[in-house]
Amino acid sequence: EEIEKGGFDHFMLKEIYEQPRAILDTFRGRLLANDGTIKMAGIDQNLEKFLNANRIIIVACGTSWHAGLVAEYIFEDLARIPVEVEYASEFRYRNPVITDKDVLIAISQSGETADTLAAIKLAKEKGAFVFGVCNVVGSSIARETNAGAYTHAGPEIGVASTKAFTTQITVLTLLALKLAKEKGVFNTTRFHEFLTELENIPSKVEKALLSNPLVEIISEVYKDSANCLYLGRGYNFPVALEGALKLKEISYIHAEGYPAAEMKHGPIALIDEHMPVVVIATNKGHYEKVVSNIQEIKSRKGKIIAVVTEGDVQVKELADHVIEIPETLESLTPLLTTIPLQLLSYHIAVMRGCNVDQPRNLAKSVTVE
Ligand code: G6P
Repeated sequence: EEIEKGGFDHFMLKEIYEQPRAILDTFRGRLLANDGTIKMAGIDQNLEKFLNANRIIIVACGTSWHAGLVAEYIFEDLARIPVEVEYASEFRYRNPVITDKDVLIAISQSGETADTLAAIKLAKEKGAFVFGVCNVVGSSIARETNAGAYTHAGPEIGVASTKAFTTQITVLTLLALKLAKEKGVFNTTRFHEFLTELENIPSKVEKALLSNPLVEIISEVYKDSANCLYLGRGYNFPVALEGALKLKEISYIHAEGYPAAEMKHGPIALIDEHMPVVVIATNKGHYEKVVSNIQEIKSRKGKIIAVVTEGDVQVKELADHVIEIPETLESLTPLLTTIPLQLLSYHIAVMRGCNVDQPRNLAKSVTVE
């Protein structure tokens, strides 16, 4: 096992550090920036299904559901296709309206999650075209779907999902870009801009990982907190949810993710000097609004850990701690902002003496309903 951990103390840390490589493996042979094309067999052979779809329904559980939420922003923003994101367990039991004009995308690292598998079967019975985004090759969901694309993240051993999440987002971004191009929403220049920037992502993830020593210092300050709030807007709202999920999964600290603007409808009541608030405040996408959320937290003495874009000035003046990530296109920021949040949950859990790779009561894949 020590050999498998490749010199890291835990599988989770190893998998966090594998992300630049995993993302590269995910678009290897698919993203051909020089030719200006995206090639994915599962999509190319079924392009008409996607282009004629009335809407896309995404079903998943846990972290994969958060990747689905990021994909909702990407598909609607870039490809202008309406999307609904559903917990598989709710979707399958609520007599959903599904037609043969719907495309259902099931996202699952393991490809074995019982609720997701059941949702797929239901959608197929109702005539929808079902596309899978799985990591485990030959898994039940990979076999049950009409077509799909693997994430190629390599085996993920840590129960808390990390590289599976970022590679799921990568696959779904490729799909959205392909559809944006085919639908004529994107002209060639915009398409190229995205392809080029996607190619830069692995090295930018590498840079985001350089925040590790700083995140470790911040973790020391907050490791004994009873609660933690995570806020983000737009593309970074699902990242806030995922950051909170990671922390509660492995450190057993109660954590909640919220859309930053919703703070005033509830969570603000909880803010005092004992409440750390992780705010994702990158420079694109409602920056000024997030800055005013930060001011509201500060005036109530909340402690602010902000994830900002390199070179940020405004948030730096307000926050207790700032973690910088490289600049990128707004739609690609989740691939970077999620990195310091993974590291934060990891260090806090280690400092609290928790079993990071196998947290209590959780399983890597949930094959019961
Ligand atoms: C479990 C795991 C999570 C995972 C979820 C969905 O709860 O602990 O890490 O996100 O199942 O799993 P899947 O394999 O379908 O992505």
